[in-house]
Amino acid sequence: MKKIAIFASGSGSNAENIARFFKERENLNIECIYSNKNDAYVLQRAHNLLIPSKVFTKNDFYFSDIILNDLKNREVDLIVLAGFLWLVPQNLIDNFPIINIHPALLPKYGGKGMYGDNVHKAVVANGEKESGITIHYVNDKYDDGQIIFQAKCEVLPTDTADDVAKKVHQLEYRYFPEIIEKVVLSL
Ligand code: GAR
Repeated sequence: MKKIAIFASGSGSNAENIARFFKERENLNIECIYSNKNDAYVLQRAHNLLIPSKVFTKNDFYFSDIILNDLKNREVDLIVLAGFLWLVPQNLIDNFPIINIHPALLPKYGGKGMYGDNVHKAVVANGEKESGITIHYVNDKYDDGQIIFQAKCEVLPTDTADDVAKKVHQLEYRYFPEIIEKVVLSL
């Protein structure tokens, strides 16, 4: 049985999509959903899905081994970032494979401050003809680790940032769970 931990900071629609995908799998389990925000909607989703959740502070995350030890106690095999906005500390990078989804075609539109709608607004403002998703390993810099998978969508001249967000979310829902499955089963 492979065990996955999800980290999310916001709505958690990807977290829910991943959890639903793995619900039927006997060889994979979502052990826990972690969040740095105690009012993030992802916590409500975790509750509805009967998945344990844990909220942590900046101090817990960066200046203690609380999260590291929790992940070790749960015998987690893979950490998945699904809309998680904090840089991951070295103690987790050293102990777990970690993958992230980014809502653009890295190396474009990555780095600090480039998350969620900020990314889609920049894509539209620059008149890009395409955008997409990037699934990549996480290292100690924002959006910098080795790329595992990318998928593209068209951006029309009439598209708003919201339109692009919808297209990108569809790609995320379609591809992220199966890429997670491939990665975790290859460990
Ligand atoms: C997703 O689009 C994800 O790619 C993005 O945040 C959104 C979270 O949506 N992640 C980043 O921007 C990370 N830099 P969700 O909470 O509904 O899954």
